[in-house]
Amino acid sequence: MGRTIVRGGLVVTAADEIEADVLIEDEKIAALATRDSAAGESWSAERVIDATGKYVIPGGVDVHTHMELPFGGTAASDTFATGTVAAAWGGTTTIVDFAVQGRGQALREGLDTWFAKAEGQCAVDYAFHMILSDVSDASLREMDRLVAEGITSFKLFMAYPGVFYSDDGQILRAMQQAAGNGALIMTHAENGIAIDVLVAQALAAGRTDPRHHGEVRAALLEAEATHRAIALARVAGAPLYVVHVSAREAVAELARARDLGLPVFGETCPQYLFLSTDQLAGPGFEGAKYVCSTPLRPREHQAALWRALRTDDLQVVSTDHCPFCFSGQKDLGRGDFSRIPNGLPGVENRMDLLHQAVLDGHLTRRRWIDLACAAPARMFGLYGRKGTLAPGADADLVVYDPAAVQTLSAATHHMNVDYSAYEGRRVTGRAETVLCRGSVVVDQRRFTGRAGHGRFQPRGLSQYTEH
Ligand code: URP
Ligand code: ZN
Ligand code: ZN
Ligand code: ZN
Repeated sequence: MGRTIVRGGLVVTAADEIEADVLIEDEKIAALATRDSAAGESWSAERVIDATGKYVIPGGVDVHTHMELPFGGTAASDTFATGTVAAAWGGTTTIVDFAVQGRGQALREGLDTWFAKAEGQCAVDYAFHMILSDVSDASLREMDRLVAEGITSFKLFMAYPGVFYSDDGQILRAMQQAAGNGALIMTHAENGIAIDVLVAQALAAGRTDPRHHGEVRAALLEAEATHRAIALARVAGAPLYVVHVSAREAVAELARARDLGLPVFGETCPQYLFLSTDQLAGPGFEGAKYVCSTPLRPREHQAALWRALRTDDLQVVSTDHCPFCFSGQKDLGRGDFSRIPNGLPGVENRMDLLHQAVLDGHLTRRRWIDLACAAPARMFGLYGRKGTLAPGADADLVVYDPAAVQTLSAATHHMNVDYSAYEGRRVTGRAETVLCRGSVVVDQRRFTGRAGHGRFQPRGLSQYTEH
């Protein structure tokens, strides 16, 4: 692979913004040289990438994706092959996807299924969390072994009774195990038992449209579950990471816990920052495109999310990329919103939407990189290798054009899904050239990567929870 120089750009990391050149040797970053030191002028390389007028940023780290997830009687429409190509186009060079333990299944078996799906398919690097859906003596013991193999985080669902749901006792036991083995417990915090009652009542009353999905999944039921997850984690003495936070009342629970000094963390996703129940209440069956859980909220919730991203009450922005085609998949829920497969596409759009948030004044440039690259890498034990640009780090790097204007659309995106949640939205900023471990996977808006370049990344323990 040899040596590559990325010359002339503004290097932006979570910590710094410096006019600097970057030297890459094989898969790693070898050196950075500030332009005024002129040290980079003596470098030689087989390849020089001109980044004049551009940002040079770490590759994005998306710690919440669901490629090929079987869900709601169908499966997410992006495979590891198509979804990681879309990630690369969007400047994301590492995904952390969720392997699933089926009911009655060993963790090993579930994990091996996900290894087999991803092996040889990925254009960018990948890692796994594990969904625990059958907490038992045996699966708790297995957790320790998975941690040793680099699967260091486990998601538990307080929603979806009969599918992924765990009760409070099971969640507490998993947290106790995590307190011992150092894993990070992630919760999908919604009161699924109460929600199922409200779903049945809504359907019985003929309220079957997509917008009722948002109404029955009340903000208070997200806040209540968030509060309960925090209490359980506190009792267990374990850190906690709450996924896809959407309600301002849930943000308030996280902020309160953090003000008490508890190791409690949270993520939100672009759909909660940019979309609202306005979309979910779209004409006809259009709202089905926006059915996900936690649901989109009324627009008033967005200010609380932006604020929490600035105050560090939320640390990470991931996508929860879980695409289902409007035609043939979302369709399953015509006449019954509870049958609409839950999830939105977005792995390709995250870096750009957050850059737009910089232009809109919600975030600083460095906070953009922190939320999208550095913090997710640190949260899930990848930092050092991923999430920053520094000597010794993997050469996952994006030459980002902060002035390129694009219109997001299903007609031009690379995700394997027949609609865009952001159809017609103009955003400024775009990944021009993308490197993953030193290989150019997108070269000035031409895809040059290949299936199988992406490698499994075993993860260490969260760097947010160490003392
Ligand atoms: O609607 C969503 N978020 N689908 C994916 C599964 C989950 O709960 O994250
Ligand atoms: Zn979830
Ligand atoms: Zn606070
Ligand atoms: Zn998810």
